Amino acid sequence: MKLEGKVAIITGGAGGLGKETSLLFASEGAHVVIADYHKNLAEDTAKEINGLGFCVDVSKRDQVDRMVSEVIQQFGKIDILINNAGITMDSTLVKMTQVEWDQVISINQTGVFHCTQSVVPHMIKEGYGRIINTSSIVGRMGNFGQTNYAATKAAVIAMTQTWAKELGRKGINVNAVAPGFIMTSMTEKMPENVLQRMKEKVSLQRLGTPRDIANTYLFLASDDSSYINGAVIPVDGGLSI
Ligand code: NAI
Repeated sequence: MKLEGKVAIITGGAGGLGKETSLLFASEGAHVVIADYHKNLAEDTAKEINGLGFCVDVSKRDQVDRMVSEVIQQFGKIDILINNAGITMDSTLVKMTQVEWDQVISINQTGVFHCTQSVVPHMIKEGYGRIINTSSIVGRMGNFGQTNYAATKAAVIAMTQTWAKELGRKGINVNAVAPGFIMTSMTEKMPENVLQRMKEKVSLQRLGTPRDIANTYLFLASDDSSYINGAVIPVDGGLSI
């Protein structure tokens, strides 16, 4: 098993990519902590894998700190943090409201900052850590109707590279995954004709599955990737080439 005895916090771990990852990490021997603001789903997923479920909104620093200190009390360490929670609130630039801008920034960008800043002192103490941030191809390419979302996903890349430089010497690897279009409730919200057009642009001619991303998170969380730091790995079937 690739994660035997490791303690892994997975934000957004009760839905889409995060849930698939929670199941995979548990099957690889990790103690999985599901940090999701959907309380019932967090508890149900935790039950399925004998993990810990926390109702946490990553944009609220006090909630994040409380979860981290409870995990430390229970396990004494945190080895892996997957900053996966994220939302979309799409609108063209001209129509985007202040609320749409603020909400997406506070979860997708500030949430990643909160969780990482809260967890990292514990990783430094152990001299070991794996942090995986979820960006997106749109963080590099932009996307129609996603000023807010694309800005946060570009910020995730910048934070990944900055933290890789700061934390590498402490035994902590920080990397990002940039998914293309993956079949989850997030993409279900997109119009069918847009998804069809996307599929045609993917050189593999299909959308991704949650397992495609969970497998990449696993690779980056395991010691198979111990010499990878500051990388942004596209998992997009060739959409970005
Ligand atoms: P999803 O909507 O299926 O699941 C997201 C999960 O995060 C849900 O369980 C939700 O309750 C949780 N969540 C949302 N806001 C939260 C908050 N403030 N605090 C705690 N939990 C919160 O989304 P999906 O598709 O699984 O996306 C996961 C990540 O992958 C996101 O960061 C997303 O931006 C990114 N991504 C997804 C792509 C896709 O095609 N599905 C493509 C590129 C990136």
